[in-house]
Amino acid sequence: MPANKSVIRDIKLADSGLLKIDWVRRNCPLLTMLKEEFEQTKPFAGKKIALSIHLEAKTAYLCLVLAAGGAEMYVTGSNPLSTQDDVAAALVHEGLEVHAIHGATSEEYAAGTHAVLAAGPDLIIDDGGDLVYLMHTDPELQKLIPHVIGGCEETTTGIIRLEAMNREGKLRFPMVRVNNAMMKHFFDNRYGTGQSVWDGIDRTTNLVVAGKTAVVAGYGWCGKGVAMRAKGLGARVIVTEIDPVKAIEAVMDGFDVMPMAEAAPLGDFFITVTGCNKVIDEEDFLLMHEGAILCNAGHFDVEVDMEGLHKLAVESKLMRENIMGYKLPNGIWIYVLGEGRLVNLACGDGHPAEIMDMSFAIQALSAKYLVEHQGEFDELLMDVPTDVDLETARKKLAFMGKNIDVLTPEQEHYLNDSDV
Ligand code: NAI
Repeated sequence: MPANKSVIRDIKLADSGLLKIDWVRRNCPLLTMLKEEFEQTKPFAGKKIALSIHLEAKTAYLCLVLAAGGAEMYVTGSNPLSTQDDVAAALVHEGLEVHAIHGATSEEYAAGTHAVLAAGPDLIIDDGGDLVYLMHTDPELQKLIPHVIGGCEETTTGIIRLEAMNREGKLRFPMVRVNNAMMKHFFDNRYGTGQSVWDGIDRTTNLVVAGKTAVVAGYGWCGKGVAMRAKGLGARVIVTEIDPVKAIEAVMDGFDVMPMAEAAPLGDFFITVTGCNKVIDEEDFLLMHEGAILCNAGHFDVEVDMEGLHKLAVESKLMRENIMGYKLPNGIWIYVLGEGRLVNLACGDGHPAEIMDMSFAIQALSAKYLVEHQGEFDELLMDVPTDVDLETARKKLAFMGKNIDVLTPEQEHYLNDSDV
């Protein structure tokens, strides 16, 4: 084992992090089952894995599952505000190399990303595409590319970046689109984001939602969840979209749809979850009413135009942890949560453990798939094999204590054969 060069806040925080991971373990039966299997079969023996995912207890448990499979783990966070220092310390305590500090400067964050790649990984587990992008653009790291078997991408935004790299002929190793697995985006993006975004808003603001107006920008998998939970909390929900089909879906789900410029004066809460930039911009800020609360749940902190807001504001003030107030030239104060970074992670603990049990089981199985099928891939971008997706669903259902019907041979014939 090489020297552990971890860069974290304080190893003395490890006990608190271990406690958090233990709670996750108790609520992640799929991952625990895989951990036990990997301890026996060691699918990652002799392999180095570089991982960049929001570094909280569920991710830490994924890291321990991969380590149990024999992997040498090099871990960084995928956002300075979502890293939990006690969890980072717990992983170092368990012998993993971690480069992540909560509230890291851009330089510190970049150094962490660089360090996990400089270790020369066989596999990369990425969230948002930063690791893969850096590996392909940094002259020093590019030399390590031939060693990489492949990688897995966790989120929608990362997949959009990978698809662009692949289209332009720049991608140089295989990547699995984990987000596209049914067992990932059906649940993580919709139910995970839906619940954890409102948890982040509630615990940060401690304000009522019922009777207020929530503006949800983007009605994709995440936006549907955020809108659904807003309705459940008693809010009037307005959706903004650019896709006419999604807009009709939102209308038929019972929500009002309009452009952001019309929604801006009406909203009490604004949640962006599009993967696009400047979804709420300077013109929109000036239309808002006193006390409007803005936050983002999309991967990057570009959906609420923070640069524009900083230029526009005549005064700013920290109102409460994770709530920054901005006084606009018209005298109105508006508030931004978690600096416009993913509100569920910057201001909360992210998705519920049972949800990440599914997403991270798919991650672990995809990593195993890459090792088992090394050198066999025709395409550089691939989806999680359907049998992995369905088998994960069957196991999760069993852990939930639910059974479903099984087709009889007669039904199989009726559904699949042309001679009926
Ligand atoms: P999606 O592709 O299913 O949905 C995005 C929606 O936003 C689309 O319907 C699109 O038409 C719409 N959109 C794009 N630009 C827009 C604009 N300027 N104004 C209004 N609507 C616009 O993507 P998904 O899976 O919902 O992900 C959205 C973002 O959330 C991504 O950045 C993704 O990486 C991130 N994400 C965040 C999570 C979290 O924990 N906060 C969890 C999973 C994904």
